[in-house]
Amino acid sequence: MLIRRKPGWWMPESAATPESVFLNRRAFMAASGVSIAGALLPAGIARAAGDDPTADLYPAARNTAFTLDREVTEEKFNLAYNNFYEFGSHKQIAKAAQALKIRPWEVKIDGEVEQEMTLGIDELIRKMTLEERLYRHRCVEAWSMAVPWTGFPFAKLVELARPLSAAKYVRMETFQDPAMAPGQKQSWYPWPYVEGMTMAEATNDLAFLVTGAYGKPVSKQMGAPLRLATPWKYGFKSIKSIVRFSFTAERPKSFWEEIQPSEYGFWANVNPEVPHARWSQATEEVLGTGNRVPTQLYNGYGEQVASLYANLEGESLYM
Ligand code: MTE
Repeated sequence: MLIRRKPGWWMPESAATPESVFLNRRAFMAASGVSIAGALLPAGIARAAGDDPTADLYPAARNTAFTLDREVTEEKFNLAYNNFYEFGSHKQIAKAAQALKIRPWEVKIDGEVEQEMTLGIDELIRKMTLEERLYRHRCVEAWSMAVPWTGFPFAKLVELARPLSAAKYVRMETFQDPAMAPGQKQSWYPWPYVEGMTMAEATNDLAFLVTGAYGKPVSKQMGAPLRLATPWKYGFKSIKSIVRFSFTAERPKSFWEEIQPSEYGFWANVNPEVPHARWSQATEEVLGTGNRVPTQLYNGYGEQVASLYANLEGESLYM
């Protein structure tokens, strides 16, 4: 007998917030200078896949185990509304991000590993089997998208790295080049952008290293040539344009944690019941739809990840 089980992230349309609430949010966003409709990209910034040495690997086969309860966000929204502070502390960084030079690009694996190594990005990508997954993407700023990412499980990178038993965390680092990325001249930020996860999180099936999106190599503004996707965590954990993975015994301090630990913690798991210090996390605007919907614990991925946090009482798991 076929038993159709509703996945944990399922949400009926009737659960969506009434339009009046959404309209208030639009008024707030307009007042605060945030315009999504006005953010759409000038023609020509969407990246041509043809000049990428791995372009032949796209589109990759979709892994249907990772599906969605909502429409995929139209690519034009994802290309035009980004957080990438290396290129500016606002959302319209797409044009500036075209200065990012993504070849040659080396990725270093070091720390508590059997043998440190440095690989060219094309060599690394070709060692992996790419697949497409549909993931939610929930920013701590209470907006969300649904993205068709292409990439490989983080667990495959861990396999390649062969960490020693002393490795308890993975620390990830973005490139540093203020001449290319003028945001890095803003010395009050603790560059380079750093993020971290426990080994258990990194080897969870959902942790995904992204090389592509929308069936082609990932665009520069979205974090080319290699970024993280951890859909049960707030988006700031999904570090872009990674150059280094260090396996460590100590918990790394991430970029935002360094800046404002009372607002952006190490764990940063999505939880609608734990507000940000300055706004509610109860609902999210689904970009490109005009809908505001209730946010779900672990962004709806509790079945896959809740067990990771079973014995961590006392930790600030949701900020
Ligand atoms: N990675 C780097 N290197 N620099 C950044 O500023 N911003 C983070 C994350 N990764 C950021 C980053 C934040 S706050 C979010 S919400 C996501 O990237 C945004 O990803 P998107 O632009 O693809 O939506």
